Formats: sequence, C-alpha cells, structure tokens
Amino acid sequence: MSQRNSTIYWVLIVLLVWQGLGGTNLPAQNAASALSDPRIEERVDALLKQMTLEEKVGQLIQRTAFGGVTGPQAASSPMGEAAAKGEVGSLFNLIDPAAINSVQKAAVENSRLHIPVIFGLDVIHGFRTGFPVPLAMSATWDPALVEGASRVAAEEASAAGVRWTFSPMVDIARDARWGRIVEGAGEDPFLGSALARAYVHGYQGERLSDSDSIAACVKHYVGYGAAEGGRDYNTVDMSERTLRQVYLPPFHAAVDAGAVTLMSAFNPLNGVPTTANHFTLTEILRDEWKFRGFVVSDYTAVHELIQHGIARDAATAARRALLAGVDMDMVDGDYQSLVQQVRSGLVREAAVDEAVRRILRVKLALGLFDRPYVAAGFSPAGAPIYRGATIKPEYLETARKAAEESLVLLKNDAGAGGSPVLPIHADVKTIALIGPLAESAPDMLGPWAGAATSPKDVVTLRAALTERTGQNGIKLLYASGTDIWGTSDAGFAEAVSAARQADLVVMALGEDAVSSGEAGSRAHLGLPGNQEQLLEAVSATGKPVVVVLFSGRPLTLVAGVPHMAALLEAWFPGVQAGPALVRTLFGDVSPSGKLTVTFPRAVGQEPLYYNALNTGRPAEGADLSHRPGFGEDRWHSRYIDEYNAGLFPFGYGLSYTKFTYSAPELSIKKLSARALNEGRGSPLRVSAEVKNTGSRAGEEIVQLYIREQGTSVARPVRELKGFQRTSLQPGETKRAEFSLGRNELKFWNVDMKDIVEPARVTVCVGASSAEGACAEFEITD
Ligand code: BGC
Repeated sequence: MSQRNSTIYWVLIVLLVWQGLGGTNLPAQNAASALSDPRIEERVDALLKQMTLEEKVGQLIQRTAFGGVTGPQAASSPMGEAAAKGEVGSLFNLIDPAAINSVQKAAVENSRLHIPVIFGLDVIHGFRTGFPVPLAMSATWDPALVEGASRVAAEEASAAGVRWTFSPMVDIARDARWGRIVEGAGEDPFLGSALARAYVHGYQGERLSDSDSIAACVKHYVGYGAAEGGRDYNTVDMSERTLRQVYLPPFHAAVDAGAVTLMSAFNPLNGVPTTANHFTLTEILRDEWKFRGFVVSDYTAVHELIQHGIARDAATAARRALLAGVDMDMVDGDYQSLVQQVRSGLVREAAVDEAVRRILRVKLALGLFDRPYVAAGFSPAGAPIYRGATIKPEYLETARKAAEESLVLLKNDAGAGGSPVLPIHADVKTIALIGPLAESAPDMLGPWAGAATSPKDVVTLRAALTERTGQNGIKLLYASGTDIWGTSDAGFAEAVSAARQADLVVMALGEDAVSSGEAGSRAHLGLPGNQEQLLEAVSATGKPVVVVLFSGRPLTLVAGVPHMAALLEAWFPGVQAGPALVRTLFGDVSPSGKLTVTFPRAVGQEPLYYNALNTGRPAEGADLSHRPGFGEDRWHSRYIDEYNAGLFPFGYGLSYTKFTYSAPELSIKKLSARALNEGRGSPLRVSAEVKNTGSRAGEEIVQLYIREQGTSVARPVRELKGFQRTSLQPGETKRAEFSLGRNELKFWNVDMKDIVEPARVTVCVGASSAEGACAEFEITD
C-alpha cells in the first residue's frame, strides 16, 4: 500500500470506528429480542412504504460473488451495479473487505433507499483459523469450547466484512454413508441441541448489533440427514413423530437460542420438497416456534423444485417456495419473477412484504444500516486479516485445545511390557511414521475449510512428530506406503522396512477431505484404496501399530482393528492437527473425546444409531455367538451374518486413566406426570460418583441415559438426557449431578402431544451408551 493510500485507509477506519461507537440508534440487546424490537419494526414499516415492488423483490435475491468481484473497484462490477439499483439483498462468497466495502458503498450511497447488502459465507469450522470439522467438535462434548471456537470464527469473519455464516448445520445423521455427517454433531438430538445453542451463542455473541457478531444460519431445514441409502440430496420419508422427536429438536433449540436465520434443505420430506414445505417452514417454524427471522433457500434449491416435479417453470417454483415460507432465494434468481407474478395477481404483494420485512429486521438487528462498512478488515500490522495475516496465538491455542478434546481413543492394547501401548513409552527409541495422511496439510483442514484458511498454517503429524522426536532424541523414520486411494503396493516394501527398524509404528490412515462433505456419500465404508493391505503388511512385522485415523465419518474397521495395537480417531483436526496429536500420543494430555456417531461393523447395518426402538423380538437375549440357522435363535430382529451392535458405540472413548462409576442415586422415586405437564413440581435429581482410579489426570464425559416403559408409544432403548465433561486428578472422586424434569421426560405421544406420560423409567449413568449402572423411578399419573 502506498503512503497516500495508507493514510486514506486509516482515516476511513477511524471514521468507521467512530461511527461504530456512536452511530447506532438501536440499543444493545440480544438477538431474539432485537427481532421483536418495536423500533426496528417502525423502521421496517417506514422502508416498506417507500419501496417499489422491484426494490422489495431485490431484497429477496441472493447472489454468489464467486471470484468475479474483487478489490475497491468492486462497485463497478455487475454485482456492484445490481446493488446500486437495489436488485440484490445479499451477496455471498466474497471475503475481500475492500470489495465488500465497495459493493456496500454502491448499495448504501447509490441506491434509492440506501438499504445495505448482507454479506454471507460458509464459515463452517473457522474462517481464518481452521478448527476441527464439526463432527470432531461434537466429539468434545464441550459446548463452552464449541461456543469459543464459533466466537473466534465470528471475530475473524466479521473483521473481513462477513456478517452472516451458513452455520451451524444441525442435521441429525444416523447413516455413516452420508458425506455430510461430517458437518454436524452426529446422531443424537439432545447433544445436537446443546451444541446448536453453543454455535448460535458463539456466532451471534452478546449482542447481534456488535460489530464482531455474525448472524447464524441454522441448516438444513429439515430431515436432510435421513436421505435414503445415505445418498446426498435423496428422498426423505419419515413419520411426523420421528421428525419432531429426532430431527427438529436441534433446530428448535437454535431458534430458542436466538438464531436469526435458517436455510431450507434440498431434500423432499414425505413427498414435499423442504424448500416448498409449508408445514415445516410456516406451521412449525413461524406459527409454533414464533421464529421472526428469515429463511434462505439452499443453493439453487428453488429452481430445483422443477426437477422435483412440483413446478413446471421457474415462476411456479418461486411462488411455491415463497408461499411456503422461503424468504430469500439463493443464487438461481427465480424470485425475480415475483415482480410479474404480483402484477398479474398470482402472488399477493403482502406475501412479498412479509419476506422483505423478515430480511430487513435481521439487517437492522445486525446494525448494518448504522454501520454498513467493515472497519477492521486489516490487522494492526496492516495485512489483510482474511488471508496471509498471522493467526492470533490465542486462536491457535483454542484450535489446538479443540483438536485435543476431539480425539477419540478407540483401542489401546497392552504392549510388550504389559502396559498399554499409548502413551508412547520412554523406552521407544525409533518410531516409524507410515501412511498417506502423515503430511497432507489440506486434508487436515477437512471439507468446508474456511474461505481464508490456508494449508500453509497446518502443522501436520509428520512436522510435529519430527520436532518432538528431535527434542526427545528419538529416531523418526517415514514412508507414505501408499496414496489415500492408491492401489499400487510399490511403496509397501519401504514402509515394512521402516517398521522393522522401529520400536513403534504410527500409521496415519483414513479418508481425504473430499471423501466426505456435500455430495461425498460412500457406499463402501472401509479404508480407501489399499490402506488396509498396507496395515496388514506393516503389522505382520510384529511391531506394535498405533493407527491415527483421519475421517469425516465412521468407517468399517472390523478387519483392520486386530492389526492395530491402538486406534486414535482424529477426524480432520484443523490447523493444529500435528501438535494436538503429538501431545496426545506422548501423554502430555490424555484423550478425552467420545463418539457422537456409532461405528458400524458392516455397511449393511446402516442406518445405525444407539437410540433405536426395541422391536417385539429384540436380539437381546438371543445367542449371538454363532450364525443362526433355521430353528434356534433365528426369530429375532437380527442379521444372520452380522451382529446388531456396531463396532464402537455412541458415547464411547477411552482415556489413559481409568474411571469408575457408583450406582446413580435419585433424589425421589416418584414424579407426577400431571405436575410436570402443568409446570409444577420439582425435577428429579440424579447423581453418581465418578472416580479416577488410574495414575494420571484425565477428563471424563459422564453420560446419563433414560429408558421409558409403559408409555403410549414405543420409546428408545436408551436416550441421552444429560452429560458433563469433568476433569479428575488421580484418586479424585467427583459427584456428577443431573436433573430430570419436563424437558427431559416429555415426548410426542400417541395423540401427537409433547407431554410427560406415566412410565417406569430406567436411568443409567456411565461412560458410554453401552455402559453404566442403572436405577429406576416411576412417573405416576
Ligand atoms: C450447501 C449449503 C451451503 C450452500 C452455500 C450448498 O450447496 O448445501 O450447506 O451453505 O451451498 O455455499
């Protein structure tokens, strides 16, 4: 930047900061109340009165800027010109603050009514600082950490001018074939709801109008995760009970937490595409939940109503989406036809007004009218914060902590000396690092890496291990062995030879980032390429093999696990992959993540999830030790060629230390359904003692599950209703306390009422969905 430009820039920044401090007319308030503020409503009314039909429809149009709009001259791009005419309500995929300010200037200064554009982006797991993928974040079971990471993302994104993220994705995913399982919090609605709230709070901050707050967009509404066969965009068919009981709760939690926007999904739901679904978008979202923000469609999803077969042309598609409750049309521009459709009487202008109202409300609540420009697009050193600038050390620290908490230790067998192979023993003098993911920086960032993240910031496992072994005087050998999807065994000999020379082998295996995420469905869930053969060849040396598994989903590992002395699921851990892994492998920190998705034994078990119904012929009690033929044990709900249970259950994860649990204690043994339904009566308190009986400090995720029997509809065999991450020193005991009240005990009953029913309730507290001591209580009339 020249001296003159730099001076102009600083003058601009000072002006903008000044405006930011004093220029807003709206008081500080949280997001939910901001959308109900009568002063906002007055401003919306005043604007609506002045707007032409074209200007109204312009607000409903969202365009992507992909690559074509850059720099301070962006105002003269077609996007800038459209903004000046009030023809575009939102732009996304723009991360250059100079371009954002330029387009914004066109909208605010040149358009007739000076309505600002809202700039959006997929800030999914970090903007500049690449955090672990959301599935990994869920394995931390740590809402405070998730909130902290989202805050970092909000601070970085807003500093570049992005005030709206298309996150969190809160789709429940029970099928590991579905690639987008990596983007969410796994299979459980209770955990999913807790994390949905954490994301919203993190993004939207204390006040939505703060310049470092960004609007959350909760997606994909709804049922997307239940795509048949795990194939992306596929049909979804489910009962209203399952929809309300399993798939809707995280959305509802996010709305209650103040989320100001939602994104409709691609899939049809019970025959009606979710982008034209009046039942979910209006009856549930607006009428029942009182949501006052706006809904944006997914990418070209409005136009796709034609492919779905419920619209024969773009105009019908637009009409159906708008009237169902989609306010903003992402990318395809079909909503432009609404001008004509209002004029010809096909669409009432009031329907357009309502959508405009919702969008303007959010823009006002964000403070965009009062502070339309980005003030802090540059770091103190003058480098653009969105690219190239150094990541703040405290952000890296949060990213490393997140990665550490997300690692799940799935196996840790005893080594030669009788003690577990991890953490790495002091007598290990040579380590062989083998595998195609040991130094693949882009893959560490995972799918949907932030627009401003850079593989250059990633510390790979190889880099971190090289540093650590150098400090410890350990010899490190390295061989990739094969490529991620490789089929040639040409590299096997080198890998085997490295293993032979080592005391311990660390293998970095798994998927690449593009194997999951959108349109990343897989029909086979084994290790890609010939990695399993590489594993077998290396383990045949007899050396202990520690597998660090990178993946965006559960994989089928039945054949591979016997060849592993230890297995650490690392997901895609983000920029701090290497340091987090090395600190864990060497025992500076004990693994503490737990699975939020069931690992299947075979693809044929999918969809597979712990909170299933029992059936009338459960496999429980059947002799599962052999393959049943005709006759004995055949007539159960089971496979004849596979167990029902997965390889690793929901909630599972080992530590370097050991935890024991006492039986749960209940404060009372009876609760009244009526009292709970009428909002009376105190909840039941459950507590259990957790003791660290090992010799190392560690963190345990204590989980509480219930099962209700005697109810009007079948209830799951187990349901998560409480969890706590707790840290324990060796020998230390802590009491974990939970409370079970109306919220935890109600469900959608046979009359489709969300109430507490009389039931016998089993409550279990333990280390996973398959463990724990249990107690019982009664819910009476
Ligand atoms: C995805 C959304 C994303 C949108 C915008 C779509 O293809 O389904 O999750 O937010 O693109 O990039």
